[in-house]
Amino acid sequence: RRQRTFIMVKPDGVQRRLVGEVIKRFETKGFKLVALKQLHASDQLLRNHYAEHDGKPFFPKLLAYIGSGPVVAMVWEGANVVDVSRKLVGATRPSESAPGTIRGDFAIEVGRNIIHGSDSVESAQREIALWFRPEEVVEWNDHS
Ligand code: CMP
Repeated sequence: RRQRTFIMVKPDGVQRRLVGEVIKRFETKGFKLVALKQLHASDQLLRNHYAEHDGKPFFPKLLAYIGSGPVVAMVWEGANVVDVSRKLVGATRPSESAPGTIRGDFAIEVGRNIIHGSDSVESAQREIALWFRPEEVVEWNDHS
């Protein structure tokens, strides 16, 4: 079955003009873009999205930061896209993300790590449903 993942360029990535760079890396890898929008996320949406971090010391700062400006939300499709995306994105802590990954190449702070990617197929399904209406996700095929 085709796999999909939720990818979001965070406000620091948008402000640093890295949206095109992120899209380029996913496209040249071979994944298919099936949904894309820029939005200023509401506090309620972010509380839902980051529910697993509720109560952690960095939670208020995390919400304030992701809510501080527009993000670019995307759905990408392709073989093993959840796991492969994690590799393209790199480790959460930029001090541990390898050069060649998005965070490894562009970030030095955990609180400003450019991009979010779903960590499992289940998270991806939950996050896609949270950020996109079904009709905003567009199925398309290459012509042979
Ligand atoms: P991500 O993995 O996309 O989702 C949770 C986010 O919380 C993570 O990226 C970081 O941006 C943020 N985060 C994790 N740990 C910390 C921390 N110690 N301080 C600030 N932000 C953090």
